[in-house]
Amino acid sequence: MRPGLKGLVLSGGKGTRLRPITHTAAKQLIPVANKPILFFVLENIAAAGIEEVGIVIAPETGHAIQAAIGDGSLFGLRVTWIPQAYPGGLAHCVKIARPFLGDSPFVMYLGDNLIGTPITQFADEFRAGGADATILLKAVDNPSAFGVATVDDAGRVLKLVEKPKDPASNLALVGVYFFSPAIHGAIDQIVPSARGELEITDAIQQLLNDHARVKSHIIAEWWLDTGKKDDLLAANTTVLDSWCRTDVRGSVDAKSSVQGRVQIGRDTVVANCRIRGPVMIGERCNLRNSFVGPFTSVGNDTEIADSIIQHAVLLEGCRLQGINRLEDSLLGRNVTMSSRGSQGLYRMSLGDDSDVEV
Ligand code: DAU
Repeated sequence: MRPGLKGLVLSGGKGTRLRPITHTAAKQLIPVANKPILFFVLENIAAAGIEEVGIVIAPETGHAIQAAIGDGSLFGLRVTWIPQAYPGGLAHCVKIARPFLGDSPFVMYLGDNLIGTPITQFADEFRAGGADATILLKAVDNPSAFGVATVDDAGRVLKLVEKPKDPASNLALVGVYFFSPAIHGAIDQIVPSARGELEITDAIQQLLNDHARVKSHIIAEWWLDTGKKDDLLAANTTVLDSWCRTDVRGSVDAKSSVQGRVQIGRDTVVANCRIRGPVMIGERCNLRNSFVGPFTSVGNDTEIADSIIQHAVLLEGCRLQGINRLEDSLLGRNVTMSSRGSQGLYRMSLGDDSDVEV
């Protein structure tokens, strides 16, 4: 019998493109719609009937990821931690995960990727199908930022190139890959790319060169790589739009108005505010005399007074006083922003514990 499908989640790397927020936090733990991206990943894996997951972690942020995930039982998963000493590339992750993977087929899932579809159908097909690799593709406007595939009319993959300057198609490689153990032999044959990494894209190209069976699916649903601030805000917008449901647990006074789909967490107090969804507000927050506009996520224990915000992600413990107005912004944990009465539109990307007066 073919051994069961395992999961390999990549949560290492440097996260340089999300600085300053990733100076202090792992990018995979940054919340979208108030839930860490990595939680969406693990839930999707567990829903596909996978029970054993290896999680690759970096020395800088691994402890925070371990603290958030624990033993995985929250997700119905058994977790094996795989420390990666340096970010040697996606295929390097597979290499160091070999003792965990053994000869099992597995799904490799990038811990910063959010997709709007369950992976169950692809997992079931891969379990049944006998392919050596199945990749997911999505048509994008900026293929040069990704691995790019050329496929024929029957969906057979012909060629893969990592971040090409002149992309041959607009089909980007989504960060979810299914592999048979044949991938290990392919990885043994590749060398580091120009950016000094062992690329999984090159390893899959090696499978193609060796006439292995590589299948592809073009996904119709949304897919978001949360590598940069704007991607993260786009992810927040899409997830709120798709999944935010009205659920008010805190208290909202009579002078406030709440329109559209809005979630307000336990022990949050809203006084004299206008909130227009989709919006998610965490627990134990205090909002007064403010407007919170569409596509905003506010983390737990945050205080917003006399301010106007929309299209923003605020992590836990932020304090906003007199900010008129904040848009398209990502604020780390415990950020304080206050104003001495100056008015203006602020677009911010602030790391944890920043203190800004405008
Ligand atoms: O998001 C999809 C893209 O992901 C694909 O289209 C590309 O073909 C693929 O190479 C990858 O590109 P990125 O350059 O965006 O990958 P990034 O360096 O952001 O790493 C993706 C995840 O893997 C992230 O959660 C960090 C983790 N990682 C990365 C490296 C390089 C590790 O755990 N270890 C590593 O050594």
